[in-house]
Amino acid sequence: MGLAGTTAIRRVSQAAGEDMFSRVLVGYDGSPGARRAVELGTDLARAAPDADLLVVAVEGHLPHYGATVGEFDEERELEERECRRWLEEATAYTQARGVAARAEVVSGHPAQQLLHAAHRAHADLVVLGHSGHSAVWGRFLGTTVEKVSRHATCSVLIAAPSAGRGAAGDDSWV
Ligand SMILES: Nc1ncnc2c1ncn2[C@@H]1O[C@H](COP(=O)(O)OP(=O)(O)OP(=O)(O)O)[C@@H](O)[C@H]1O
Ligand SMILES: [Mg+2]
Repeated sequence: MGLAGTTAIRRVSQAAGEDMFSRVLVGYDGSPGARRAVELGTDLARAAPDADLLVVAVEGHLPHYGATVGEFDEERELEERECRRWLEEATAYTQARGVAARAEVVSGHPAQQLLHAAHRAHADLVVLGHSGHSAVWGRFLGTTVEKVSRHATCSVLIAAPSAGRGAAGDDSWV
């Protein structure tokens, strides 16, 4: 989001009082939709300098049927490494914009774990992408975002898909 968007968010949060959103959790799965969520979370954190921004990646893949213990451990290690890489890229993005985000990898069912993480962090806002890794042309609302918005006890913000964003509608941060 550009400067105009950040200014608009600041105006809204000032109108509603400084503490509108002070603990923001972003779910990040490395997808273009999740990048939009990190961008929104970063804008919100910049508009409220005391806000705490937490980026969470859920290592959610279950082992394949018949996998041996060794194969399971190996698969899990790969998934975890992938999540850490996602978080490094997300925190590099926030840091480049002056926001020191915390990052956390958790294991399990993505929607359930995002809800648990939001509860642990006392999040007052969860920001998610419209869709994630399995999006088909980004047309359908993903099951993670659908479940989190249905069960969350705090506000949930769904970032708009990337169409029309940025000068070139660029999907990547690199
Ligand atoms: N494993 C995850 N870790 C962190 N955040 C996630 C994870 N999975 C999804 N999210 C968050 O939820 C948003 C929407 O993803 P979702 O999983 O709902 O869509 P999808 O992958 O297209 O569909 P589905 O998972 O139902 O096949 C992502 O942009 C991201 O913000
Ligand atoms: Mg998904």
